[in-house]
Amino acid sequence: MSLTEHIELEELQSRLHRARRLVVLTGAGMSAESGIPTFRDAMTGLWSRVDPAALASEEGFRADTARVWAWYAERREGVRQAEPNAGHRALADYARRHPGRLTVITQNVDDLHQRAGHTDTIRLHGDILADQWLDPCPRRGGPPCDTDWARPGQPPHCNECGNLVRPAVVWFGENLPLAALNAAEAAADAAELMLVVGTSGAVWPAAGLAARARRAGAWVAIVNPHPSEIDGDADQIVRGTAAGVLPVLLAAG
Ligand code: APR
Repeated sequence: MSLTEHIELEELQSRLHRARRLVVLTGAGMSAESGIPTFRDAMTGLWSRVDPAALASEEGFRADTARVWAWYAERREGVRQAEPNAGHRALADYARRHPGRLTVITQNVDDLHQRAGHTDTIRLHGDILADQWLDPCPRRGGPPCDTDWARPGQPPHCNECGNLVRPAVVWFGENLPLAALNAAEAAADAAELMLVVGTSGAVWPAAGLAARARRAGAWVAIVNPHPSEIDGDADQIVRGTAAGVLPVLLAAG
């Protein structure tokens, strides 16, 4: 690390110690060092190996439900096998030491922030380990069917109407959960400091949160070993990894 980089990191560290409202926006790079592949990293990214439209869209699921279900089953197993890394743990430790100061917003559908102890993470793109029905439950007069009652299969389906179970993630072309998006935008508007960790900034509306926070007066710093599409929205860029940089940045002052 050059002397300038060292000084800049120290300045960011002191900003972090002073900040009362810290917001951290994370993407797939946050979980890369836990062994979960990112989406767009050349060669290693999921989208360099499979067609996102075929596997992460409602049309793709309806066209080949068994293939899509099998692909998610494989990814779910990868998430279950993974462990939070030093970056996840540093964020959770910071939150324990400074209650009420940190809001974590994630695009990730894994549960590593939660397993590290950050249970109130705002999840913009859903939860890969959860299920939902493909179509609204047609039942009238009474509670909708629970996906836990579904008949086993690839994918499981409703015994009554044949409705299919799908992973509770946001697919391309779908809207984000409104409550999560509203909470994320409110956090960005109120942030004094925003750290953007491990995202290419390729997917909206998540990619707009950094610029929104900066317009509202926040200092925005990006942590990413590579250039991203939103580098221009940052006041500072730290070329490093989540598990390498966050423990240093968030170390007890
Ligand atoms: N630490 C920090 N950043 C990293 C690391 C690491 N160890 N490894 C890779 N990165 C960076 C890459 O340089 C890249 O900029 O993480 C970013 C990952 O980008 P994407 O794969 O595009 O993931 P993300 O930005 O989260 O994608 C957004 O797209 O496919 C959809 O819904 C999916 O939530 C996802 C959304």
